[in-house]
Amino acid sequence: MVIDPETIREDFPLLLSRKVTYLDNAATSQRPKQVIEAIAEFYRSLNSNVHRGIYELSQEASKVYEEAHEVVAKFIGSDDWRSVSFTRNSTESLNIIAQSLAEKELREGDEVIVTIMEHNSNVLPWVRLSKLLDLRLKVIVLGDDYRLDYDELASEMTSRTKVVAVTHVSNVLGTINDIKRIKSLASEAGAYLIVDGAQSVPHLPVNVRELGVDALAFSGHKMLGPMGIGVLYLRPELAEDLPPPIVGGGMVKETGFREGTLSYEVAEPPWKFEAGTPNVAGAVGLSEAVKYLSKLGMNNVEEFERGLTEYGLKELTTELGDELKVYGPRDLKVKAGIISFNICSANPHLIASLLSSEGIAVRSGYHCAQHLHQFIGASEGSVRASFYIYNTKEDVDKLANSLKKITKEIGKAGVKCTNPPKKSCC
Ligand SMILES: Cc1ncc(COP(=O)(O)O)c(C=O)c1O
Repeated sequence: MVIDPETIREDFPLLLSRKVTYLDNAATSQRPKQVIEAIAEFYRSLNSNVHRGIYELSQEASKVYEEAHEVVAKFIGSDDWRSVSFTRNSTESLNIIAQSLAEKELREGDEVIVTIMEHNSNVLPWVRLSKLLDLRLKVIVLGDDYRLDYDELASEMTSRTKVVAVTHVSNVLGTINDIKRIKSLASEAGAYLIVDGAQSVPHLPVNVRELGVDALAFSGHKMLGPMGIGVLYLRPELAEDLPPPIVGGGMVKETGFREGTLSYEVAEPPWKFEAGTPNVAGAVGLSEAVKYLSKLGMNNVEEFERGLTEYGLKELTTELGDELKVYGPRDLKVKAGIISFNICSANPHLIASLLSSEGIAVRSGYHCAQHLHQFIGASEGSVRASFYIYNTKEDVDKLANSLKKITKEIGKAGVKCTNPPKKSCC
């Protein structure tokens, strides 16, 4: 199936009602009417708490909620629905796995490996634990063409390496990391592989069993689903073994009061990682979003976005020439639909606000990865355009034309073009 963005746009009320060229999909996507309607329908006709009522309404809601786990598990290639726990977002999923591993596995002197291209959500939990537990945190930097330095990764692995925590797709560079290759290095060292799928699961086929990940985190709101629902996939044996770091209602099998002491026994996965009343409407909406993406086919989504990215890079380069500095791989085989750039010496927020006055929505700043911007020499951050299934070549043309106009304006206002000459490496 060839993706036709014009047809797809008909499903997205916001894109029809607002005059906006929406190119901030890496921050959050828009939602189709099917998802909006599924959420409304839950509240209209099924609203009740789950796993807490014996009455019919609650039983029905529980069934729908459980089915959402199945739909999501299948989407990421897991044959066990209990491997999928719902959380609030990728950030919460990554914190849960980090804290759980800390409780069960990590000891002073153990090593955790992350990369320079991680989002804060896959950095801060590990930095925090490193301080608390006296772990050694190693940071793998970039090699050629804004790709991960796999040789450095291999050489940093030791028998003390317990965790490799890596993003599948960089939310700044768009770099697609080779998770299979990283898995084989992690396996050799006997380390857990934790993957941040926030920017991959919405945009390309992800199969947890083929990739061999131990844990995968992603967010509903970046993949046509609602805000406030995220996913933590855990390899089934790991889900059984790991302790839940958040405790309370819903995640417990039984509690006891014996000899003046309270105790508890945790429930089975996935419930043990879902303490408290879950976001049932969010799960229903995410399930609908997954069905929408599955109908399109993730291979088609990936191919479509690659075409748009190729077109975008070509147009921006043609319109802006040397005044444009793009951060990210030139090799499109390892690049997702994210183009981060700077223009002359202009502050990225200035460019984004001038684009906003042209009706174009892009992100500017550090995109929760200031450390990466420091590394690539973009100390003030970057402007980021990111694509999804409803973006058209006209959207890209509008971006390129507006940037050309803005570049002329800021040139007249005296902003100097101080971009370093382009080179293939960072
Ligand atoms: C790569 C990556 N990881 C994690 C996150 C955090 O996602 P959330 O804010 O939904 O928790 C983001 C959000 O931009 C991201 O791009």
